Amino acid sequence: MTILETLRTPEITEDLRGRGYSRRDMGRIAALLGGTVALGRAAPAFAQQSAKAVVGAVRIGSNECWTGPLPAGANAAMKIVMEGNRYEPNDEHAKLFAAVSAVEGLPATHIKAWPGSSDPLNRAAVTFASPARGIVTADPTYEQIWRTGAWIGAKVTKAPLGPQYQHDVKAMLAADPNAGLYYVCSPNNPTGTLTPIADIVWLAENKPKDAVLIVDEAYIHFADVPNAAKLVAARDDVLVMRTFSKLFGMAGMRLGLTFAAPSLHDKMMRYDGMQVTNMLPMTAVACGTASIPLASEIKARRDEMIAVREKTIAHLQNRGLKVLPGSHANMFMTEWKGKAPKEMMAALLAQNVQIGRSWTAYPTMSRVTVGSAADMEKFRIAVDKVLMA
Ligand SMILES: Cc1ncc(COP(=O)(O)O)c(C=O)c1O
Repeated sequence: MTILETLRTPEITEDLRGRGYSRRDMGRIAALLGGTVALGRAAPAFAQQSAKAVVGAVRIGSNECWTGPLPAGANAAMKIVMEGNRYEPNDEHAKLFAAVSAVEGLPATHIKAWPGSSDPLNRAAVTFASPARGIVTADPTYEQIWRTGAWIGAKVTKAPLGPQYQHDVKAMLAADPNAGLYYVCSPNNPTGTLTPIADIVWLAENKPKDAVLIVDEAYIHFADVPNAAKLVAARDDVLVMRTFSKLFGMAGMRLGLTFAAPSLHDKMMRYDGMQVTNMLPMTAVACGTASIPLASEIKARRDEMIAVREKTIAHLQNRGLKVLPGSHANMFMTEWKGKAPKEMMAALLAQNVQIGRSWTAYPTMSRVTVGSAADMEKFRIAVDKVLMA
């Protein structure tokens, strides 16, 4: 069955129509979940960078990891290539869920895998928001869900970040007390800032009972702080999202996870007969399974990133630049002493360094990804050159 045919089965049509979706919206939903939305609106690389990656440049514009998968993960992927004739050689999905379950202390029944976290994010928007029930996010934040909301006709309401650049959960609830979906990104993209778990719990407890709270933890492995995974064991209205695209260096391999009560997952998966969750590339699954338990390698990568980030931020501050405080991820935002982000982006690219863009809420700042020590040395030299020019 195609996605459109599935959407037209009586039970699903009734649910969608009951939530305010029109016949025309169903075509849009099918295109979104089938990956055929024109405009590249939902593609992660597109969402991350306004400019195409420049091959050969220092690429610190799209929050990728500076290096590839952890070696044990890469070896597991290479090994399973030789069994590529089998759809699933030896229960690889179950092995991934068991490995994640052991690390997170969650039952395997609450874990699903996806090709990255972009698909489940779109799918959650369709499932829990609608033309009748909107979406609430912080501003600035990861904008994919804004575009998805616009695509499916769900109202998107944005609440500015709080004084510590955390999500202001009270303002988020007040901004639309009857939304279908509340989206918290922690550490937040583009600021790297954290929202305390206590605030996340407050939002879970105070939002409408039938609304869903997403906690997008794409960057959580870069921050040595408590995460929201355990919330889903006790509640059936919270969805935690993870990706292997960041610290694990697997953006091009495509693997993500969601943690949620089975009832939430069932709702999200019904639109395509569970195709997407069940048909993942075994190379990605094997790599993720081998990587997730490697606590000391994960810590070493995190520590390496933090040292490079702090050295780079100190350098910019020494040059009198204002850097947004509190990043716990592989990115930070910086101002340029009155120079426009677009101008700096072009000037740095002329030095072969590709940084990220600005966000509407913070139009004078650019987002810079933390690359390798060598990448960031080139970045510092390029900044000095451009600022002195
Ligand atoms: C906060 C956040 N969530 C989700 C994603 C989606 O990434 P992917 O589909 O590679 O998992 C990204 C990508 O940069 C992101 O920054």
